[in-house]
Amino acid sequence: MTDTVSLFEGEQAPPGYAGRIGGLDLRFNALSADANERVLEDIKRELLAGRFDRSGATRKGNWERGWQENLDDFLASDGDVDTLIPKFFNKNNIFRCGGRYVEGVGPTFESDTFKAVQCWLFETYFRDSDRIVEFGCGPGHNLFLLSSMYPNAQLVGCDWSQSACNLIDALSAKHGLNLESRLFDMFHPKAIGPDGDDLAIFTIGALEQLGKDFGSMLDYLVSMRPRMCVHIEPIVELYDTSSPFDGIAAQYHHQRGYLEGFTPALRALEKAGEISIHRLERLHFGSRYHEISVAAWGRP
Ligand SMILES: C[S@@+](CC[C@H](N)C(=O)[O-])C[C@H]1O[C@@H](n2cnc3c(N)ncnc32)[C@H](O)[C@@H]1O
Repeated sequence: MTDTVSLFEGEQAPPGYAGRIGGLDLRFNALSADANERVLEDIKRELLAGRFDRSGATRKGNWERGWQENLDDFLASDGDVDTLIPKFFNKNNIFRCGGRYVEGVGPTFESDTFKAVQCWLFETYFRDSDRIVEFGCGPGHNLFLLSSMYPNAQLVGCDWSQSACNLIDALSAKHGLNLESRLFDMFHPKAIGPDGDDLAIFTIGALEQLGKDFGSMLDYLVSMRPRMCVHIEPIVELYDTSSPFDGIAAQYHHQRGYLEGFTPALRALEKAGEISIHRLERLHFGSRYHEISVAAWGRP
């Protein structure tokens, strides 16, 4: 039976959300129990074979090459914003949704669902922000969405990849956006200037890349004293590893060397009175292999 992704169960959607997701295809079909089991077994085999590369400093060249391809496509298409979508999206049609595996109905189910999550969170947290910074922004598709929602906000995209920064600059020039890039290494954060009362920050699938080495970046983010900082990241501590379904996602997370220790670090900062946590929860949605969670915090 065909169903539709529903986000943040039990919460009322923020004003403006429904109007923004009109064109998105969020439909999926749940897999049968047998098919579900087969996906689990296939992933176990992939993990045993060590099929997944570890994230980290050695992957910088891969990101550089990947974003260069998006930049080439963007320029060749004379600025078509569909070329901003990372090529790792919409490759596989099996997803984690509501505690089981499902199949997307349309070919853009994954990128459309991500867009819906962003619309919800951007409407909730960034409506009144004049300056919004994304760290690990990649090709700028998140910032492009944000610029369509809040054209007057000053947007900054930071990434350690020069080709990502070039793409942000090309996007900004071609579409006349209030957007600039900064070359920025999250392993070695350096102040990028103005912070201030109104600052909002976000990361999407970016802190994940730092593994256990996120401490300097988190300290830096806290030192910016943002009004709001939103992370859409895989957060391993939020899985219930007593279930095979979550256990396999946690194994995948560890094989990739993704973010680890983020939840206790945020809780410790809150206890020390340095931040207030507004949201720290799973989304119960993700790719075939793992899920995204949302952490939102701000200065106390
Ligand atoms: C999975 S991609 C996500 C990109 C984008 N946020 C999105 O939602 O599509 C991870 C991004 O983090 C960037 N990245 C990885 N390690 C980084 C580091 N140490 N400093 C800055 N950027 C980094 C990569 O270049 C890439 O753009």
